[in-house]
Amino acid sequence: MFVTHELPGEVIHQLSGLCDVNVWLGPGLLPASGLREELSDCDGVVCLLTDRIDRELIESLPGLRFVSSMSVGVDHIDVQALTARGIPLGHTPGVLVETTADTAFALLLAAARRVSEADRFVRQGEWRRENRWSPDFFTGKDVGGATLGLVGLGEIGQAVARRAQAFGMRVIAWNRTQKEVPGVRLQSLESVLAESDFLSVHLALAPETQGLLDTSRIAAMKPGAVLINTARGGIVDEQALAAALSSGRLYAAGIDVFAEEPVPVDNPLLSLPNVVLTPHIGSATARTRARMADIAAANAIAALRGEPMPHCANPEVYAR
Ligand code: DGY
Repeated sequence: MFVTHELPGEVIHQLSGLCDVNVWLGPGLLPASGLREELSDCDGVVCLLTDRIDRELIESLPGLRFVSSMSVGVDHIDVQALTARGIPLGHTPGVLVETTADTAFALLLAAARRVSEADRFVRQGEWRRENRWSPDFFTGKDVGGATLGLVGLGEIGQAVARRAQAFGMRVIAWNRTQKEVPGVRLQSLESVLAESDFLSVHLALAPETQGLLDTSRIAAMKPGAVLINTARGGIVDEQALAAALSSGRLYAAGIDVFAEEPVPVDNPLLSLPNVVLTPHIGSATARTRARMADIAAANAIAALRGEPMPHCANPEVYAR
């Protein structure tokens, strides 16, 4: 089997006792052309969210028996093409919930209180006598008492709700399935957009969520609201968001994920002072990444042993 990057954690070391393992050691990430070549004689692969496993690649690999991604999201993989071939796809839900909720809340606080802007101000030597403390100096937006709207109320959305409740926020949510969560009021998407002072996105990227927050939905957001996205870039129309932020209709944004990653330098969000930007680090703590790698390795080990993967994104392959 092939592993597309050196992985943290302990479980990965067990793989070499079960099969021949090749690991891409860099430099950098494995290019797409290299992936096809490396996989040509492999039964399985442990990959990252940066590896695109599309239909064409899957169809060119008749010997492929399993795919295990070190990610919870599987939008970089053609799940239907795998399922049609009966190939199980492993992923890593659960372990990154609290870490990703921390990132969302960090972006929310930073955007509300202009932390990145203030940091740049100090570093760039702007904090001078003629430019010092005054009553309206770096005033931001209060979090306590504000309304947080969650677009998606899965495990990560619920973890963000718990943080928001501890900060004294009122929490409302829109979810595709009706699910009662203590202290969270379920509403229509339109009313969540209209009432939220802060809106945080917690959905998987899928055909039905692609472009969900488009020009008209961004225009329907409460004036002066803050948008946080730690889910996937393709869910939010970045051009429409940048226009709403530069016109002042929206107050600020905290964005960890982009339609194209790494984000191109001409993305309009990069030139706006009221956007806090991070490079897809939602799950980036050493402990969480090690846990994700352990689950990805455990999924691969189960597949090698002919057992069901403990965390399978297409479990219907086992019902055949
Ligand atoms: C995932 O696993 O899908 C996350 O985006 C990683 O941070």
